[in-house]
Amino acid sequence: MSLTENRPAFVRSHARGLVLTAVVAAVVFAIMAASGVLAVGYAIVGFVAVAAAALVGVRGDDKIGQVQPPAPTPHGDDPLPAIMSGLADPVIAVGRDGRVLAFNEPARALAPALRQGEPVSLALRMPELSEAVVRAFAEAAPQRFQYSERVPVDRWFEAVAMPVEHAPGLAKIRPEPGKPELVLLSFRDLTPLRRVEEMRADFVANASHELRTPLAALSGFIETLQGSARDDAKARERFLAIMQEQARRMARLIDDLLSLSRIELNAHRRPDTSADLMPIVRQVIDSLQMLARDRGVTVNVDAAGALWVLGERDELVRVFENLVENALKYGATGKRVDVTVARGQADGHDEALVSVRDYGPGIAPEHLPRLTERFYRVDVRESRAQGGTGLGLALVKHILNRHRGRLTIESAPGAGATFVVHLPIVERPVSQ
Ligand SMILES: Nc1ncnc2c1ncn2[C@@H]1O[C@H](COP(=O)(O)OP(=O)(O)OP(=O)(O)O)[C@@H](O)[C@H]1O
Ligand SMILES: [Mg+2]
Repeated sequence: MSLTENRPAFVRSHARGLVLTAVVAAVVFAIMAASGVLAVGYAIVGFVAVAAAALVGVRGDDKIGQVQPPAPTPHGDDPLPAIMSGLADPVIAVGRDGRVLAFNEPARALAPALRQGEPVSLALRMPELSEAVVRAFAEAAPQRFQYSERVPVDRWFEAVAMPVEHAPGLAKIRPEPGKPELVLLSFRDLTPLRRVEEMRADFVANASHELRTPLAALSGFIETLQGSARDDAKARERFLAIMQEQARRMARLIDDLLSLSRIELNAHRRPDTSADLMPIVRQVIDSLQMLARDRGVTVNVDAAGALWVLGERDELVRVFENLVENALKYGATGKRVDVTVARGQADGHDEALVSVRDYGPGIAPEHLPRLTERFYRVDVRESRAQGGTGLGLALVKHILNRHRGRLTIESAPGAGATFVVHLPIVERPVSQ
């Protein structure tokens, strides 16, 4: 109970104190005057002074009580806010008049304008919400609805208006037979689910589109070979070469998709065999020498000694193959690619760093965070022309996640690009 609620008792007890002080002062000054210690005049002045001081003291206390009531405790003796504060989702209790009875911290974060005693519709301006509250009271049945916010970012919510019919002792509400006493509005953030759903839909659309393109080319050439080009030996040769290329593209796409799902399936299982990065990097560079020559690019290697990591050799080959191949394909104009294998430190732990740097056109900053998404390409046409599927860096990211490593990318338009693989080091090979 607050001090303000208890004011009459508070004032009464202080008035009693004043009377007691005055009586005691009167007795003391009377004795002093009678015994000749004080002149009667001085005794009267003394008595008046003490009585006045006591009176001022009470007034002062009184004022303090009025100006600074103690801050109301967050829950008072009402159990409703206390219960709601233990819930992780945003929850708002609304009374029959549509006003907010209580809300918890997550609800405050969701709607900062919420105020106890004010209409909930002031803080959450959605007609669906007001309707749901009214219907929940009228029908005494839960009402669900979904809504989205566009600002500052896209977010989706499901809200439930749940009538509470009998809440004895809760929120001090006067019960009315057959009517819910309050409605609890709770909110569930559907944004992560939506995003996953969007990604899944995008993935299926992208995968089928990527497969359909070479398939359409194959069907087209088959028809041509069956028709107009049937007896044209030269055209047949050319078309068959294109068809072979398209078939390879489809096979590669299917391979990459299968690899991705296999790696995802094993994502929680860290490899337990050890591998030295140096020979892996050398093998990758050797295998890409043809492509480097073809593009007129020199690949330089700067290597430390052996660097052991816990890793699946084939998967690590895939990582460096894609990074060096990308540097050769997209950074060829720089004529040079530097591969560095070194030991570094992160958070007090030793790590192996393999960086692949090219001096090509570089990548604009808005693309950088999205490069490891499946099928994401800065220039789809160029990637396709290079035989790319846009799955390379997604594979790199998943393989590194499984190896408890990570990929960092630094680039600026015109300044080339540096892709760095970070992997935790093991000091010596683990017996296999
Ligand atoms: N070194 C680089 N310089 C400039 N752009 C790059 C570089 N590396 C990657 N990119 C851009 O990132 C995109 C995604 O690369 P990723 O390796 O995932 O796919 P891809 O190379 O197109 O296809 P795939 O790897 O399946 O052959 C590329 O299409 C390219 O636009
Ligand atoms: Mg690639």
